[in-house]
Amino acid sequence: MAQRDGPGPVGIVGAGQLARMLCEAASPLDVPTVVLAEAMTDAAVATATEVVPGVPGSFEDLVSLASGAAVVTFDHEQVDLALLRRLEADGKAVRPSAEALTLAVNKATMRERLDRAGVAVPAYEVLGHKGASWQDGVRPALEAFGEAHRWPLVLKAARGGYDGRGVWVVSDVGAAEGVWRRAEETSTVLLVEEHVAIEEELAVQVAVGPSGELKAWPAVETVQRDGVCREVLCGSLPEPVARAAVEVALSVARMSGVVGTLAVELFSSAGRLLVNELAMRPHNSGHWSIEGAVTSQFENHLRAVLGLPLGSTEALGPAVASVNVFGNQAADNPAHHLGDALSVSGAHVHLYGKAPRPGRKLGHVTVVGDDLAEVRRRAWRAAELLGTPVTEELGRR
Ligand SMILES: Nc1ncnc2c1ncn2[C@@H]1O[C@H](COP(=O)(O)OP(=O)(O)O)[C@@H](O)[C@H]1O
Ligand SMILES: [Mg+2]
Repeated sequence: MAQRDGPGPVGIVGAGQLARMLCEAASPLDVPTVVLAEAMTDAAVATATEVVPGVPGSFEDLVSLASGAAVVTFDHEQVDLALLRRLEADGKAVRPSAEALTLAVNKATMRERLDRAGVAVPAYEVLGHKGASWQDGVRPALEAFGEAHRWPLVLKAARGGYDGRGVWVVSDVGAAEGVWRRAEETSTVLLVEEHVAIEEELAVQVAVGPSGELKAWPAVETVQRDGVCREVLCGSLPEPVARAAVEVALSVARMSGVVGTLAVELFSSAGRLLVNELAMRPHNSGHWSIEGAVTSQFENHLRAVLGLPLGSTEALGPAVASVNVFGNQAADNPAHHLGDALSVSGAHVHLYGKAPRPGRKLGHVTVVGDDLAEVRRRAWRAAELLGTPVTEELGRR
């Protein structure tokens, strides 16, 4: 890349839709982007300034990415922290740092560190240490945990899961054994957790600058089905819950050492707020901020990793709805229905350019306005016109 005067380039490990939208946010700032893409069909290939073909598990590929970048950041957490530490030792700026990422890439470490820091998390136990035997180790541990927290329980892969892949609700020891045996084959470490009676799922994004500057977006409600986020609502949560969630997220941000955007996912249950998951990158629960807030999670992530001042995270209206677009059984391409969706007033359509497959997340639609029911209705309508399967229960809650 030619020598330039301005900030950047920003190197991004991964080239999925999050990288795609990071690159989109970089364009008006004239910040060049380089993505590490496994395939030329990856979503961010179309929007990045430059593409380095390669995989996150190869140090050589990471070096190629970093050599053209002022700072390296991420689109996912399927990364090898030892390789990132080597990059850092070579003098490359990695943001968030490998040290901060230890908190986000492994759900067992995440639970342990948050718990130790006094952040409320669901009751959990780490099950799958190497060599643990089902009969003598895991089964009795599960039975005792089930005794204490009542079945069903939740089993989770410590690493590698997303969109509910890697999360299993098990109603008894027999079902748990099936999950354990499959995990054993792939040497996957498992956690067991209490099955939380969730009243609401929430998320808070926090942007953190290198000097510790913090900006939190308003807390949003995230609606999931089968472990997958279907819609995100800003303006629906009771004010005290929203305020408390922001406080929890800020305390997590302070202890995390993160630089960039941090996503904190929480459960609200019986008057408690429990932290479920962290992501140290832009996150699906923050897409609403592209049109719904003064500064989007993507722009503030760039600003943070580049050491630029953070922008205001205030919402631009009392109600914002962001509905995910999914592939249907016919693997219909949503792009074919763009005209229909754009006829919905105020619908901001984002298509990620991914090949349509049933159940695959292909885009999202955001509507901003004064009335929550109205913005939801329009966002769902547009998502449905783009081919998203919509159930009565979901779209018209
Ligand atoms: N302990 C739990 N109790 C009840 N539901 C849970 C629990 N853990 C996860 N879930 C449900 O599964 C979804 C996905 O789990 P999560 O841990 O966030 O994994 P992922 O990495 O797939 O997002 C959550 O959003 C929630 O709906
Ligand atoms: Mg999650």
